[in-house]
Amino acid sequence: MKDYELGNSISDIFEMLPEKRIKKVMLGNREIGIVRVGDKVYGFHAFCPHRGASLISGSVNLSEEIICPLHQYRFDLKTGQCRSSDCSDLQTIPCQLTEKGLKITIP
Ligand code: FES
Repeated sequence: MKDYELGNSISDIFEMLPEKRIKKVMLGNREIGIVRVGDKVYGFHAFCPHRGASLISGSVNLSEEIICPLHQYRFDLKTGQCRSSDCSDLQTIPCQLTEKGLKITIP
């Protein structure tokens, strides 16, 4: 497990992450996606567990699900659970917004 920190304050993170705009982040050799919804930030493995499409060009709906751009499977951003088929779940990456910025924990 390894922690990474982004930014220096909550406002840095809000500026860096416009709402629902998915951003790709390289941490070590891991490519992850992060997205902010309101005052929550979610992290996830950048590739879809279905057929490996990049989720960086996916979208986020009102139910806080990420939608894969290739076959439109939906994954719960909080749990990674696949909501539209019996596909494997998406690996989520814990993100914590603090006064000092964003802490991302790679399992
Ligand atoms: S590759 Fe993502 S839903 Fe098929």
